[in-house]
Amino acid sequence: MDGKSSYKGRVLVAGATGKTGQWVVKRLQHYGIPVRVLVRSFEKAAMFGSGVEVAVGHVQNTEEIAAAVKGCDAVISALGSSSFFGEASPQEVDRDGVIRLADEALKAGVTHFAMVSSIAVTKWYHPLNLFAGVLSMKYAAEEHVRSVFSREGRSYTIVRPGGLKDGEPLMFRLHVDEGDRIWNGWTNRSDVAELLVLSLWNGKARNRTFEVISESGEVQESLERYYDRLAG
Ligand SMILES: NC(=O)c1ccc[n+]([C@@H]2O[C@H](COP(=O)([O-])OP(=O)(O)OC[C@H]3O[C@@H](n4cnc5c(N)ncnc54)[C@H](OP(=O)(O)O)[C@@H]3O)[C@@H](O)[C@H]2O)c1
Repeated sequence: MDGKSSYKGRVLVAGATGKTGQWVVKRLQHYGIPVRVLVRSFEKAAMFGSGVEVAVGHVQNTEEIAAAVKGCDAVISALGSSSFFGEASPQEVDRDGVIRLADEALKAGVTHFAMVSSIAVTKWYHPLNLFAGVLSMKYAAEEHVRSVFSREGRSYTIVRPGGLKDGEPLMFRLHVDEGDRIWNGWTNRSDVAELLVLSLWNGKARNRTFEVISESGEVQESLERYYDRLAG
């Protein structure tokens, strides 16, 4: 789709100031979709210029999250923890924060919830879990989102990337899979963002959880076809 989308709902991007979140905002703007960003400080939102609505809030604060999701049609979460303890820990952000965001979104009538997770989230014994159980925290949040957003009239899309790298979108052929069978690999944050944004209108993204890694360098016209490859 060439910078146009029939999707016209307002989308809240949580974790918008993060490396993946910034790409989510850019790709939403590319498609002309109204964006609201959830940021921890108003000053940080300056990076987006005047083209976005700003909601200031921490994922620990239910009232702030309720205000942020109000009037939005979809939520894309690129939230991520960055410390063992405190308000940026896996427990606070990857599990409880995402769960709180999903619950408040549901109450506010949001119809689609898309989020970044990770490969290996079902593997409690994976070494990455030494970081405060980050994979298990993400998996708990996934399970909650699957449970509450698969109800009638709602949908979810959960993207589980390999290691994240920076770079422009649509520069690599991708490999997608389901069932958490991929152990290694990496992909660009920008492609993860694109897949999350496409999930807003691609019916094949509805209620899907899938892994994604990059294969060889090859310019892609669109990433829509990767949703065709998921089991029917
Ligand atoms: N790094 C990898 O190789 C890898 C691999 C697979 C999956 N992942 C996952 O992919 C996701 C995106 O990764 P990334 O590198 O783009 O993340 P990132 O740059 O660290 O961004 C994380 C975002 O979460 C926000 N955040 C953290 N704590 C918050 C809180 N209490 N309330 C509100 N917002 C909060 C941060 O806000 P501030 O800007 O205010 O800090 C930031 O916007 C993460 O969930 C990560 O675990 C990463």
